[in-house]
Amino acid sequence: MVSSQELGILHITVRVMAVLLTLSPSLCETPPEDFLYQTKSQCYYRNGSADIRFLYRCIYNQEEFAYFDSDTGYFIPKTELGRLQADTWNSQPDLLEDARAQVERVCKHNYEIFTPYTIDKKSPPHVKIVNTRAVSLEYENILTCYVDSFFPFMITVTWLKNGVEETEQVTSTELLQDGDWTYQIHVMLETTIQHGDSFTCRVEHSSLETPISVHWEPDTSESARNLMLTGIVGFVLGSIFIVVGLTIYLRSKKAGTRFPVPQNEGLMS
Ligand SMILES: *[C@@H]1O[C@H](CO)[C@@H](O)[C@H](O)[C@H]1NC(C)=O
Repeated sequence: MVSSQELGILHITVRVMAVLLTLSPSLCETPPEDFLYQTKSQCYYRNGSADIRFLYRCIYNQEEFAYFDSDTGYFIPKTELGRLQADTWNSQPDLLEDARAQVERVCKHNYEIFTPYTIDKKSPPHVKIVNTRAVSLEYENILTCYVDSFFPFMITVTWLKNGVEETEQVTSTELLQDGDWTYQIHVMLETTIQHGDSFTCRVEHSSLETPISVHWEPDTSESARNLMLTGIVGFVLGSIFIVVGLTIYLRSKKAGTRFPVPQNEGLMS
């Protein structure tokens, strides 16, 4: 995220190159060695862009030997090599001035550019509850609160049973990355559901003005199942009556054609 500035450390790189060049004729005989020089620029935003710490880490063969710390305004050695190097850099006013300016030039600048896409980015969570039968014998059900598509990742998910917060039988997955900056988490409540119980999954997130509360009651699903059962039974019974009725009707019609007995006449006489 932060573009690294070379801070005039080119001369050490040149020195490494020189070593490499002098070694190159003997490279055929001895196994090649690595001369790896790396730098890492870090901006720490301790209070937005009002309080920034800039670190510039200098690493040789994977060992950090010195770093610049904007809190002190100087290079600080970490190894013997680093001490010599830091002394050299700290004795160069131009170099120090350049390093000290990075807080404004790199960190603050980047903060302003990236804030809309990072710090200010908000994506509200979607919440749904799914009930599954538990395998364990102690509790019959597992209610899972699926919370997804939220950013940033800080979130509070709470299970309430009959308005009372549940903590004992609540477990949670790790925070899962959706791969599009957003996150999801599944929070499970192991419970035994009785008639009249009500459950709430409450989600608090910085993208929301008020928490999202999703309710779940066994009644609604049970009565829906009962309604469906009633419908099926009614349909089956109805079908049986139609079939039986039709059979009787057709039989009596057949019988009627064989032995025509005009019923109306009987009524008239
Ligand atoms: C953070 O910075 C703001 C100015 O942007 C300042 O008003 C506030 O006091 C600072 N907070 C802390 C804890 O230093």
